[in-house]
Amino acid sequence: MRDWRTIDFFSDKDLNEDPYPYFDELRSVCPVVRLPNGVVAVTGFDEASEVYLDGDDFSSCNAVIGPFAQFPVPLEGDDVTTLIEQHRDHLPMNEHMVTMDPPDHTRERALLMRLITSRRLKENEQFMYRLSDHLLDEFVGDGHCEFISAYTQPFAMLVVADLLGVPESEHELFREGFGLMGSSPGMIGSKDFAGGNLNPLSWLDDWFAGYVEDRRRQPRQDVLTDLALATYPDGTLPEVTNVVRTATFLFAAGQETTARLLAVALKYLAERPELQDELRADNERIPNFIEEALRIESPVKADFRLTKRTTTVGGVDVEAGTPVMLLNGAANRDPRRFECPAEFRADRPNSRAHMAFGRGNHTCPGGPLARAEGRVSLERILGRMHDIRLSEEHHGPPGSRRFRYEPTWVLRGLSRLYLEFTPEEAGR
Ligand code: HEM
Repeated sequence: MRDWRTIDFFSDKDLNEDPYPYFDELRSVCPVVRLPNGVVAVTGFDEASEVYLDGDDFSSCNAVIGPFAQFPVPLEGDDVTTLIEQHRDHLPMNEHMVTMDPPDHTRERALLMRLITSRRLKENEQFMYRLSDHLLDEFVGDGHCEFISAYTQPFAMLVVADLLGVPESEHELFREGFGLMGSSPGMIGSKDFAGGNLNPLSWLDDWFAGYVEDRRRQPRQDVLTDLALATYPDGTLPEVTNVVRTATFLFAAGQETTARLLAVALKYLAERPELQDELRADNERIPNFIEEALRIESPVKADFRLTKRTTTVGGVDVEAGTPVMLLNGAANRDPRRFECPAEFRADRPNSRAHMAFGRGNHTCPGGPLARAEGRVSLERILGRMHDIRLSEEHHGPPGSRRFRYEPTWVLRGLSRLYLEFTPEEAGR
């Protein structure tokens, strides 16, 4: 392996395929280390928690774009809080809660939490079972599939659509709108962006704005009405655009992440025929299997903060203005926290202690949803697909498997997963 000082995390293609030796090397130098480009990389579990939980010293304004947050003035001095506040409105994604700090973040998040109630999650779970069977009906009889385009992407998208109250009669329209009919692997919207269309999902904004306005005029007994009439904690009604933004952001936050989680879960399962039988015989073991998949291949591998005030992390000095990269994918393989961290252990007792959903006041509010999506999908897949295996034609023989991963430094996700299996009826 090359010296870590010569590797650029943000452009090195080899890291897409396997970032873990690099993460391990960084951690062995120090769990908190300054990279040549000035970013401080955190690979230690406790150290990453420390940053996540310290909203006083760290801002989320660069949570998604990391070191590429451009300020028109240099961030100089031991406290750059005021400079961040003066210029944050010009940073990409500033309108979404993931980049906000209190008090704005507290207000927008409270609005979202009024939509994700436990009753809504229960109803949504019933829909997940129906949806899972519906998608499996489309390809199980073939005995093979490209699992990401056939299942994980439409599943993750339609679960969010249902959560927000999109009627089932409109689900096919949504599938078409997101380009998820038939085989269309890859990152959603990437083709449209390449073609110069900056908002390929503007139809989605229009759709939600139309419904919110309609329900505000004529409330009904439905989820879209709850969405339209949800208020901030102080009782005020948000602007329509704010409601729409909260709703549509869930598609961005909940789709690719969960789709890639389901794919990696199947990748591990396909290599373990006995585990398939064990989980099929005892569905109670599925949730821990999902936690272990989240731990070993965290779908959000890197998350960012900007240091507001000069401070220390794990005893290492970090100056105000420094971008800090929280490597969830590395923290979840910290040997001080997880024994033999590179091993996939379906019954690992502390899998659930991972930080794949982050920590602190931005902790993923979709965690319960993603977990339920994993559990329901595995139950139905194991019920209907037997002897699941990787396609040797696409992934090579055991011992020299080949996989391609999405070219992004934020997510860790397989590009495609080709499976073969025996359909339930024939497998019995
Ligand atoms: C396996 C699936 C998922 C993973 C690994 C994941 C991971 C994360 C992480 C690490 C964060 C924290 C970002 C930060 O602190 O800067 C986050 C935030 C968020 N996630 Fe998820 N997520 C997943 C699924 C979902 C789903 C299904 C939804 C909703 C439908 C969702 C909605 C959100 C939202 C709205 C935020 C921003 C919360 C805030 O800023 O307060 N996520 N997610």
